[in-house]
Amino acid sequence: MAASKRVVARANELRELIAFHNDRYFGDDDPEISDAEFDELVRELRTIETDHPELVPTTSLLDVPGAPRSTTFAPVTHRMPMTSLDNAMDHDELAAWGERVSKGLSVESVRYVCELKIDGLALSLRFEGGDFVQAATRGDGKTGEDVTANVRTIAGIPQRLAPAPAVLEVRGEVYMSKGAFEKLRNEKLRDNEARVAAGKKPQPVPANPRNAGAGSLRQKDPGVTATRELSMWAYQLGEVDGVPAFSSHHDTLEYLRTLGFPINPEVRIVDSLAEVVAFCAHWQEHRNELPYIIDGVVVKVDDLAQRERLGYTSKAPRWAIAVKFPPEERTTLLRDIKVSIGRTGRATPFAELEPVVVAGSTVSMATLHNREQVQVKDVRPGDTVVVRKAGDVIPEVVGPVLAKRPKDSKPWKFPSTCPCDLKSTLVQAEGESDTRCVEPDCPHQRDQKIIHFTSRGGMDIEGFGEKTVYKLSDAGVLEDVGDIYSLTPEVLLAQGFGEGQTANLMKAIDGSRTATLQKLLVALGIKHLGPSAAESLARRFGSLDSVAQASTSELAAIDGVGEVIAESVTSWFSNKRHRSIVNKLRKGGVRFDNVTVVDAPQTLVGKSIVVTGTLSGFGREEAERAIKDRGGKSSGSVSGKTFALVVGDEPGASKVKKAVELGVPQIGEAAFVRLLETGELA
Ligand code: IVH
Repeated sequence: MAASKRVVARANELRELIAFHNDRYFGDDDPEISDAEFDELVRELRTIETDHPELVPTTSLLDVPGAPRSTTFAPVTHRMPMTSLDNAMDHDELAAWGERVSKGLSVESVRYVCELKIDGLALSLRFEGGDFVQAATRGDGKTGEDVTANVRTIAGIPQRLAPAPAVLEVRGEVYMSKGAFEKLRNEKLRDNEARVAAGKKPQPVPANPRNAGAGSLRQKDPGVTATRELSMWAYQLGEVDGVPAFSSHHDTLEYLRTLGFPINPEVRIVDSLAEVVAFCAHWQEHRNELPYIIDGVVVKVDDLAQRERLGYTSKAPRWAIAVKFPPEERTTLLRDIKVSIGRTGRATPFAELEPVVVAGSTVSMATLHNREQVQVKDVRPGDTVVVRKAGDVIPEVVGPVLAKRPKDSKPWKFPSTCPCDLKSTLVQAEGESDTRCVEPDCPHQRDQKIIHFTSRGGMDIEGFGEKTVYKLSDAGVLEDVGDIYSLTPEVLLAQGFGEGQTANLMKAIDGSRTATLQKLLVALGIKHLGPSAAESLARRFGSLDSVAQASTSELAAIDGVGEVIAESVTSWFSNKRHRSIVNKLRKGGVRFDNVTVVDAPQTLVGKSIVVTGTLSGFGREEAERAIKDRGGKSSGSVSGKTFALVVGDEPGASKVKKAVELGVPQIGEAAFVRLLETGELA
């Protein structure tokens, strides 16, 4: 059937849209629509082109996996093209692919390898005589970009292979872990706050790990790439010469593993499509538990001879398929922007959204961080916005879909008054990026202070969460945290708490009376005073009263405290309201002097140790604790003063690089254990 005018017009429009968004995605690393919406455009065009082959241009956009390369890096012609994969969007499409495979091979059952589909950037690494000689991006599949210098800074990639094959090309996905991304993003947001405070324009902040990873890899200065924590999973061979003869894909992965390439631990061999489906279902449900982002599963025929028989279409192998998960990013309507008031009075704008399911849960609210973020992202009430889960937990507005902005939309204005009943004026102090409610009686601040006090990071009173706090403070029972310890079962019952809940709350409150001094100090919410400075104070002074009586200079002299914290602590205790809280706590039976003494041998006094990556026998905090318990300093960054860098699994590239540059010894976990015991490097 000949295509109608409307279909021709739509196909042209789709090509325009795909080309534009492809550019935003691959060229600018700054997508405007979600992956799912992009896929939808591609599918629509593909359907039209299948139904109306006469409309297919000589070079269809759909045959080009990436975007044209940029001019910043030298071009690299791939000796074996880097093809893309066909997608299956649901079980039916997967089953249809499975049928085509069995039919193509005339066999009943096929052995498949299931791999996670890493949402990163495809790379081809080339080794000659064992030496790493070149790294190239995929580009348009035939020609990519030479990013060798940048890839050399990625810690997990071997620089030399032994035994050395004559030629070995390895394909894999470079990515930024969720943790590394959050760190980078927070740094950028902080930078921007400083920029804005200095009257400069804020810089774009990467929206997701994929963009951050791609941006980091395509830096002109490898020194910048080195400061970004990039990782890689290898998943495929390219051109090879002088490697053993393999009969299965799985064997090639094992071979790569023995050569030192990072192979994803979740790879599975299965013998039926039903097992493939189970693998997909498992990871669709558990994807958020992984420390990196996946957007699906890649299923590959394992037998290499079978692969040969199946061959390729014009754009992708017939022996593999990408099973795509539903998106983690969604678009929805931004109904309104409001501000919430934190415990220090900080006014934080947040988005009220038309509820939308993202990564398995309904999102109806998302933080917008601060005034500048709203400006930078230029999101406005009435906009259609892209929503995602930052680090897969906290919902976040990525940005507006400008094409869908209503004509009469105006930039959002920060409110001038506090949303509480007192409606006090919000102020932005000279040179500060934060806007605050400075009314000491503000009920929103009061509630947040109490929530902070009872939270896990504070006195850890189980069951005393937001709801309980709101209920009791609205009833006028709680004016500040001091009142918690005069609560009685009668009061709670009268406020409508059940018998069981009342008993549990009373028990939890009582338990918190013996919390450590460090916890108590943190719970009070003294500005700048975090857990590690609080611990130094607790160890040095031994009781809340001694801390309260100490002078600013005595406090500032403590390692890990300083002028700013010291100043803040003395100022806190000199406030009348705060002194009344301390008295209420004392009357309420809260212990002020619970300092847990650790009697570990002081093997690390004066030594600064940095831990990077995951250790098997210690959590991150445990490792830091172990260092501090022995008198050492656990630092977050490598410097000339660092005694040793403890390197765990998936270490941070920048730390390792810095350690090499500065000649700081790097040690593994076993040597770390010895270091803790003896204070010496083995
Ligand atoms: S195999 C010829 N395996 O997904 C086979 N690709 O949509 C080449 N990807 O271009 C690819 N994880 O950038 C393969 N385990 C995996 C993958 C994977 C992520 C990416 C890769 C590829 C794209 C296709």
